[in-house]
Amino acid sequence: MDAKFSIDDPEAYLARIRELLDVRMRDNLRRRNHTLGVARTAAELAETYGVDPFLAEAAGLLHDWDKVLPDGELMARAAQYGIRVAGSPIHAVPLLHGPVAAHELPELFPELPAPVFQAVARHTVGATDMTPLDMVVFIADAIEPMRCGAYADDLRARVGACDLQRLFFDCFTQGLVYVMQTGRYLYPTALDIYNSYALSCAGKKG
Ligand SMILES: [Fe+2]
Ligand SMILES: [Fe+2]
Repeated sequence: MDAKFSIDDPEAYLARIRELLDVRMRDNLRRRNHTLGVARTAAELAETYGVDPFLAEAAGLLHDWDKVLPDGELMARAAQYGIRVAGSPIHAVPLLHGPVAAHELPELFPELPAPVFQAVARHTVGATDMTPLDMVVFIADAIEPMRCGAYADDLRARVGACDLQRLFFDCFTQGLVYVMQTGRYLYPTALDIYNSYALSCAGKKG
């Protein structure tokens, strides 16, 4: 980011990221609008659940930064950075834009702290030890206003009515159900993540 932009002025910093996004996503208005929706939703979730709204909005704005790249380029960059993917590399390509961007963004936005980049990395793959910021960005990606369907409506209706971990677990589970119902490839670590949160949410009612 240009030297004159500092996170000491969060609004100006976020506005500058939006300007850069407009250029990066100029060929895909829908993706740009999705990104802006995720950022706004992440900031709202952050306010609700006591997470830093600036970091949430910044991560939301940056989460799909590398989704503009073609599959071959994503695979090449993942190999170059030593990003490991479980299971079939070809079928894991849709997940790569998170970890690849997390590798590249610190150089472009050195003012932002590491948790922002971790949240970007984990918005596609998840993890067994998601931080509240990771969860906020993951959920925001699934429930931003452009997401349609009963599952998104259900999750949106529960914001603030259940704890953040429960909301994340239900959001993650909805994703798994969708993957299986539509016969898509299930990323192997998804089962570990599911089981980890199933055990940790067991007995909790949100
Ligand atoms: Fe994404
Ligand atoms: Fe997204």
